[in-house]
Amino acid sequence: MKTIIEPFRIKSVEPIHMTTPEQRQKMLEKARFNLFALRSKDVIIDLLTDSGTGAMSSEQWASIMRGDESYAGSPSFQRFEAAVQNLMPFEHIIPTHQGRAAEAILFSILAGIGKNIPSNTHFDTTRGNIESSGARAHDLVIAEGTDPNSLHPFKGNMDLKRLADYLDKHGQSVPCVMLTITNNAGGGQPVSLENIRAVAALAKSHGRPFIIDGCRFAENAYFIKQRESGQQGREIADIVRDCFSVADGMTMSAKKDGFANIGGWLALNDADLAEQARNKLIQTEGFPTYGGLAGRDLEAIAQGLTEIIDDDYLRYRIRTNEYIVERLDDMGIPVVKPAGGHAVFIDARQWLSHIPPLQYPGQAVAVGLYEIGGIRSCEIGTVMFGRQPDGSEIPAAMDLVRLAMPRRTYTQSHADYIVETCAELMESKDSLKGYRITKEPKIMRHFTSHFEKLA
Ligand code: F0G
Repeated sequence: MKTIIEPFRIKSVEPIHMTTPEQRQKMLEKARFNLFALRSKDVIIDLLTDSGTGAMSSEQWASIMRGDESYAGSPSFQRFEAAVQNLMPFEHIIPTHQGRAAEAILFSILAGIGKNIPSNTHFDTTRGNIESSGARAHDLVIAEGTDPNSLHPFKGNMDLKRLADYLDKHGQSVPCVMLTITNNAGGGQPVSLENIRAVAALAKSHGRPFIIDGCRFAENAYFIKQRESGQQGREIADIVRDCFSVADGMTMSAKKDGFANIGGWLALNDADLAEQARNKLIQTEGFPTYGGLAGRDLEAIAQGLTEIIDDDYLRYRIRTNEYIVERLDDMGIPVVKPAGGHAVFIDARQWLSHIPPLQYPGQAVAVGLYEIGGIRSCEIGTVMFGRQPDGSEIPAAMDLVRLAMPRRTYTQSHADYIVETCAELMESKDSLKGYRITKEPKIMRHFTSHFEKLA
């Protein structure tokens, strides 16, 4: 069969509130053109993030009733721990309320002034947690990873030569080597098993712990199965185990490939580090058998981890993004290719070449998609990354707009509607204007900045 259908039936639905372009224009002005400030009920298709926005299965909802809310030693924790260890064989599994809490705990121990932490590309919260400790975060993705047109099958790979030089140069000031799978900020691009192993070997040869940011581990494993020689025909679960068995720890947001609406964890092999992390956890998140989550959340994650590694689900998920990318590409809209695991990325810098990076072409595309079709997307470019720790502003490596797909939430007709909205925007794209930021916070400005459209 050519048609790849959603491999699930719908048992419970949530209405979408339809709006007109005129209503959306007013809403945009009220939100100061920051899409984070919109009410979600005023959004027709919400592609702001794939984080915590997925639909849970009937089995997950059933497991929620089994959640044991004991403060300490809950069987829900044991089920959660076993489900994580089944895929990621780490000694210590420390639950947190979401991924950034795991990062905050890890870097409160490992980072600090004078430290240097490399990754393929740090996600913004990871970078935020590192930099706010006074340490520096560096992105060492391969050159193809920042070229939207490169068809390299593993554009999330770490540049091994740069990493080797980095480790030689920074020596003892590197408390750990990170790797983000898939590489969210670089377009949801995967990292090969070969590259994961090579990064692990380099870190080990320098005596540095290797930590994987595993938010989208299942999507990454599916790409490995599709694209890496020798991996076809393997179980996704086995590929996942191979990826994590060479690492010393991981940070995780269960809001992505945990199939849950909330949750995360920090996993470590080192007992001393784990003890420090648990002590910090007690201070900031909660007792180590719940870590800021309810017992029912731990159950939802445990069940979710058994569902996310399903081949049929992953095939449908990745195919939806490929389908949209193929159609946008046919229309001449520059998109990051190949399609990413969790999102479609439009190259706004190339598409709106009349808007310079410091006037935020990505913001112009994101606002345009909302005006025309009520679609909420997210700028991942100069708005998000342009402000430097020293206060200066420089263009980000790319100006992308991310259309992130919530898991199991939208259908094929929603995908067609997204394509049609992009086609409409194509008609008016030359008249789109850039933006100016009129108010911004000191860090992570994209969430709360105010914008003004340039004349
Ligand atoms: N690492 C990566 C690669 C992420 O994509 C995210 C979150 C985090 C860490 C932090 O996890 O949200 O649970 O605290 N990404 C979301 C996104 C927010 O929209 O891409 P969190």
